Amino acid sequence: MIKKIEDILKQGGIEEYKAEAKLIVLELSGMKLEEIMLEKEIPNQDKMIELANKRVETKAPIQHLLGYSYFMGEKYIVNENVLIPRDETEILVNKAYDLVKNIENKIDILDIGVGSGCISCALAKKLKDKNIEILGVDISLDALEVAIENINKLDLVRKVILRKSDIYSKIRPIEKFDLIVSNPPYIPISEKNNLQNEVKNFDPDLALFAYDELGVDFYKKIIDGAKNCLKANGYIAFELGINQSDIVFKILEKDFKNIEITKDLSNIERVICAQLK
Ligand SMILES: C[S@@+](CC[C@H](N)C(=O)[O-])C[C@H]1O[C@@H](n2cnc3c(N)ncnc32)[C@H](O)[C@@H]1O
Repeated sequence: MIKKIEDILKQGGIEEYKAEAKLIVLELSGMKLEEIMLEKEIPNQDKMIELANKRVETKAPIQHLLGYSYFMGEKYIVNENVLIPRDETEILVNKAYDLVKNIENKIDILDIGVGSGCISCALAKKLKDKNIEILGVDISLDALEVAIENINKLDLVRKVILRKSDIYSKIRPIEKFDLIVSNPPYIPISEKNNLQNEVKNFDPDLALFAYDELGVDFYKKIIDGAKNCLKANGYIAFELGINQSDIVFKILEKDFKNIEITKDLSNIERVICAQLK
């Protein structure tokens, strides 16, 4: 069955046809790979073929057609209003966790550009034994609706709260955080035409693009306002786009110390974190 689906996807020009065929069969059969290898009768075969054909016809990401995606072992609802969580964002979550895991008092975290809620929820799960409150903000109400569903589904309503805010616009002066974490829009708009069609046509522009030449506008704005809402010795942690680490490092230097950069599996400098001076 996997081979059959692979053929449909391959002939339809789907680049990751092997991984997607496996995903379609596993998800629609509800079986584990070992079970599929042993079983003769796999349920829902017609639906698998239907989904593979739909994938080829519409070119919509498989996660949109399924209605969900996986991030750090959990299932997240996704649609056209949120970025599909990316594997490299796990590095940001792990770094953010390392920064705050030893704080003994209540831990307050601000997630700017919460999208599907994947960073906030994954952090809340990792910090489950701690007294934490994560505030996720986004400018998009449509994205916040998806985040609410994910927070409910993962039973995190007591840990993660949401607010519509244009970066810090709705953060009150008395609110102070131990950590600001963000995977902001960082692709320079001039690169739109170089993106894969699936990204360009299906991920929301609001989640992807920064409108300055280097794509660093959000980093500048977030760093600029950070000192007003971080607690003493508070942290900041960002996901970075390609070739943005030097610029963000320089912007951070004025008010932050202990600046640390982490590479991803492709050797790209992907995460930067720092501590308020
Ligand atoms: C790259 S996505 C990250 C989504 C999610 N945190 C993740 O890592 O998958 C950036 C998010 O920032 C939001 N955003 C864009 N402009 C914003 C602004 N001015 N203020 C707050 N959020 C904004 C977008 O709606 C989008 O959800």
